[in-house]
Amino acid sequence: MARPFTRLVSFEEENTLLRQVAKDLARGSLVAFPTETVYGLGASIFREAALERIFRVKGRPGDNPLIVHVCDPAQARELMARIPPSFEELVRRFWPGPLTLVVPRNAAVPDRVTAGLDTVGLRMPRHAFALALLREAGIPVAAPSANLSGRPSPTTAEEVWHDLAGRIPWILDGGPCQVGIESTVLDLSSSRPRVLRPGFVSADDIAEVLGRPVPQARSTSARPASPGMKYRHYAPSTPLVLSASSRLRQVLAQTRERAGSVGLIAPSIFENLPADGFWSLGEGTPVDYARQLYAALRGMDRRGFGALVIPTIHGSPLARALMNRLSKAAAPFHRPSRSA
Ligand code: TXA
Ligand code: MG
Repeated sequence: MARPFTRLVSFEEENTLLRQVAKDLARGSLVAFPTETVYGLGASIFREAALERIFRVKGRPGDNPLIVHVCDPAQARELMARIPPSFEELVRRFWPGPLTLVVPRNAAVPDRVTAGLDTVGLRMPRHAFALALLREAGIPVAAPSANLSGRPSPTTAEEVWHDLAGRIPWILDGGPCQVGIESTVLDLSSSRPRVLRPGFVSADDIAEVLGRPVPQARSTSARPASPGMKYRHYAPSTPLVLSASSRLRQVLAQTRERAGSVGLIAPSIFENLPADGFWSLGEGTPVDYARQLYAALRGMDRRGFGALVIPTIHGSPLARALMNRLSKAAAPFHRPSRSA
């Protein structure tokens, strides 16, 4: 089969091309687009063949459900079997934004999207380009992160190009993602809301709106609360070592001895530590980390070091969400499962 020609469209070209891209999307083409979290690989939920293509193009396990992106809360309500009590309040506070709400779905949502679950994850993204595309297309759009399965999510159009050029017809370039890690996933399908995937919107932020504590679901590979939790995620193919900041010098030396060469991903204050390559996480605030983390993992992966080292981060809910991603990226390499 001939490989399709991939076109990269920038935000500036929006007016002339957006209509065409949106029409293609609605008719069953795959379109990679920016959101404030990470780039998504979108397909109309009403095009079975396009949904299939998402799984094929990414190499994604078929039992991992897709998040459906909507252009407004009304479009979300059309997909729901019932509206959970806290839905409206959460939407008022956090949409558009990096919060996915898992709710009971109705028959309008195909099984292929939810992997047969009776719930669906819904999200209204905040990125202007994403919203313009969703409005113009006029249909709900299923979109996982636009990476090959198992790799870190892309946070620039170049990283999408790297994974998917020649496999999809359109990549929309909206610049680097502002948040940089995937949305918080909140399960509203039972009477007790809980966080299935931590993200930029914290359990505390949500608890404040709901007026009660919001637990985080524990991840067990036997019975994951969210199918995505059982897969190894976000991982570079170079072994990744996490280190306390205070032990960075020692860990770098040990790792280099074992791996031959070592790349350091860290706040710029660590730039002068002995490593074979360096990627700056700016001032090292949680927001800096989140914005740079995936680009750093992907960029350093390509440089071919024997191992990568990154200091752990603590002290805020966003730091905890980052540690959730980092611990998966650094997980032992013997785990066989692949991810999305
Ligand atoms: O920020 C994001 O959420 C990005 C952008 C593109 O919107 N999307 C994203 O999608 O990260 P993906 O497919 O890479 O991750 C979706 C996660 C998976 O862990 C999946 O298992 C979970 O959400 N999920 C989706 N629908 C679910 C459902 N009905 N019940 C439980 N978990 C669900
Ligand atoms: Mg993903």
